[in-house]
Amino acid sequence: ENAALLKAIIENAIDGIITIDERGIVESINPSACKLFQYEPHEVIGKNVSMLMPQPYRQEHDHYINRYQTTGKPHIIGIGREVTGLRKDGTQFPFRLGVSDVNFSGRKIYAGFIHDLSREKEAEDKLKEYT
Ligand code: HEM
Repeated sequence: ENAALLKAIIENAIDGIITIDERGIVESINPSACKLFQYEPHEVIGKNVSMLMPQPYRQEHDHYINRYQTTGKPHIIGIGREVTGLRKDGTQFPFRLGVSDVNFSGRKIYAGFIHDLSREKEAEDKLKEYT
């Protein structure tokens, strides 16, 4: 069945996948994203996605979403951005964020795709030490 196939793909994806509603409330989070942010699904679902980011983004994120909804002008959607995530233990990590706008059964949701860049950043920093 198609829905089961899609579920299996999301469950086994290497990258983190998080969906939010139009107010920024987390509706789903896949195992890769749970591992990256160190949370269990129930600790994140129903909460604002801003809990997964450091300041000043945490404070501004609702505004970013509102601005997109009122102006229709994207800053990350369809573009991508390197951003910083906040883990449960308080440490931060860099990742590539992709966001897509999804029309799902008559309402709007957003899907965020999280590609960890920790290793690349570490290698870059090591290289800088020697130059
Ligand atoms: C917009 C940061 C995660 C959905 C933005 C903007 C920033 C940002 C800085 C506005 C960009 C600008 O105005 O130039 C972050 C950070 C995250 C994060 C630091 C770390 C966890 C997510 C996730 C989703 C998401 C996981 C979706 C599931 C959106 C949406 C917008 C937005 C819908 C507005 C549309 C747009 O500007 O294109 N975010 N975000 N964000 N973000 Fe996030």
